[in-house]
Amino acid sequence: MEIIIQPSHYQLAAIASEIIRDALLRKPNLVLGLATGSTPIALYKALVRMHKENGLDFSRVTTFNLDEYVDIPREHPQSYHTFMAKHFFDHVNISVENQHIPQNTAENHEAFCTAFEEAIVRAGGIDIQVLGIGTDGHIGFNEVGSSLASRTRIVTLTENTLAANAIHFGDDISAVPEMAITIGIGTIMEAKQCLLLANSASKSEAIAKAVEGPITSMVPASILQTHPNTVVLIDESAASDLKEVEYYKRSYANKLKLQSQ
Ligand code: PGA
Repeated sequence: MEIIIQPSHYQLAAIASEIIRDALLRKPNLVLGLATGSTPIALYKALVRMHKENGLDFSRVTTFNLDEYVDIPREHPQSYHTFMAKHFFDHVNISVENQHIPQNTAENHEAFCTAFEEAIVRAGGIDIQVLGIGTDGHIGFNEVGSSLASRTRIVTLTENTLAANAIHFGDDISAVPEMAITIGIGTIMEAKQCLLLANSASKSEAIAKAVEGPITSMVPASILQTHPNTVVLIDESAASDLKEVEYYKRSYANKLKLQSQ
């Protein structure tokens, strides 16, 4: 894992967007795994700016979203279809047929999940997977106790996740859908690169466990310790429970020094 600690989430978004831009310039048909939630919003803004101001071309890009609630319509203001349109898809030139978001209204969920996995393989696999992290260490909607080898499937959300997401449903926990489709941890682990973003003190414990704790299904993000190319981008607050902060900062400073030589 490469740990990059920055003063604020703006710098994190800038670095993440540059990683994606550079990959896209090298490979115009990049396959992106995308996340929803408050964390990646600044990243999407930065990518939209690169598209509008610098002509960054997404026309051959294919995207796969991590997850979607089950049983709310696509048009629901809190569906992840709505989120992605609002924050990203409506502002860049990714063709609609290349955008894949788990379908919350699929009649046969099992067949849908299998087809979603097959579509990722057909696209050549995910090049860069953007990830947020739950306060309990979940990635996607792979909740605590998820098999570390899990694939795309239907899951029930934990109380912790329902409570965290209630803010988007008028602070009414009973309005948050209890089930979701998520790509699996095994699926995420097949991405060539993972970018895990986190900011704010509410994530510091989850980050410390994921980065420096034991690998366990009780902290799904901890499996990323075994991923060959994961970059963890966090602000100072999210880094506040890490033991090796100074080492991570020195390592990143040395990397930048090498790059500028
Ligand atoms: P957040 O959610 O970005 O809204 O904090 C992250 C997550 O729960 O995965």
